[in-house]
Amino acid sequence: MRPINPRWHLRWKKTLQLLRQLFTLPEAFEGVFVTGATMSNFTGLAAARQWLGKQYGVDVAAQGVGALPEIKVLAATPHSSVVKALSMLGLGRNSLVTLSTLPGREAVDVKALEKWIAYNPDTPFIYVASAGTVNTVDFDDIAAIAALKDKHPFWLHVDAAFGGFAAVSPRFRHFLNGWEQADSITIDAHKWLNVPYDCAMLFSRHPLLQLDVFQNAGAAYLGDPVQNFNYINYAPENSRRLRALPAWFSLRAYGAEGYRDIVEQNVKQAQRLGEALERRDIPPAGAREDVRSLLYVQYGRQEAGGTYPHLPADARQARDHIRYAHHAGRRSGHAGRAGELAYDG
Ligand SMILES: Cc1ncc(COP(=O)(O)O)c(C=O)c1O
Repeated sequence: MRPINPRWHLRWKKTLQLLRQLFTLPEAFEGVFVTGATMSNFTGLAAARQWLGKQYGVDVAAQGVGALPEIKVLAATPHSSVVKALSMLGLGRNSLVTLSTLPGREAVDVKALEKWIAYNPDTPFIYVASAGTVNTVDFDDIAAIAALKDKHPFWLHVDAAFGGFAAVSPRFRHFLNGWEQADSITIDAHKWLNVPYDCAMLFSRHPLLQLDVFQNAGAAYLGDPVQNFNYINYAPENSRRLRALPAWFSLRAYGAEGYRDIVEQNVKQAQRLGEALERRDIPPAGAREDVRSLLYVQYGRQEAGGTYPHLPADARQARDHIRYAHHAGRRSGHAGRAGELAYDG
């Protein structure tokens, strides 16, 4: 079997650099492609588990989770895939400590986190922040959470599967304030990047911990994980398709300006949709089945200072409108606007 074509790595690397630039993340973050946000959360939390082990003098990758003391993973409104990842990682679903939220919100009450830390001093833990909850698209106050890292050792993972795209608009970027201090960040490309399933990224400050966990050593045909750079040593999959290619084409087609326009247009469309639904007094029944689509409404409302305890929306109608919004975004003439992303390769 032939080793992987090194030019592929270059295409992956360049595309991940462009994405990091699009999301305005510092260069300290290294990216890797995975299938979706579920696998991205898994990958980030696997590195977090390795970090936790080190706090106790345990190499989890070598010794296994059995060598760890009881581990706690804190979050307020985590996506179900986070809980699934805890099961897959051997930390167990019961390791999750669910903190209280702010009244009428899905965002964490940071005071509850401070209280937990006060009751559990010197206990390293993992905190999973939400940047866009799946039901109401609420955002944790990431800056306030990250500020606690100065006083207490914990791993901050941000699940920004959908909400990471707030970074592309100066109007909405503040929702993500502080995420640059995270240890790992999940973003789904098959959401607002307009690429087909399956494609997501993990951005992490700790590629060496990923290497500890995911290195595929001992296979001559795949090279030495330390000597020969290969993304297979930083994420779960070995055989993979070239996810960078559709992402790269889309980045070149839309450019940073194109993505900003799409997000801002979608917000406007959703605000109008929300207002129309409210005017018609459509009851909230069923809305929560598909309200993720109403991200745009949430951005709009948060921007207006609202917290939106109810979503007076009919799910089917909302979905149709949002599909329209997506198509409108695609049709809105962004092809060829690559200028804003300084691609050098
Ligand atoms: C916040 C969040 N996290 C994780 C996921 C899981 O994403 P995927 O289906 O790409 O694995 C989703 C999916 O909607 C999500 O909204």
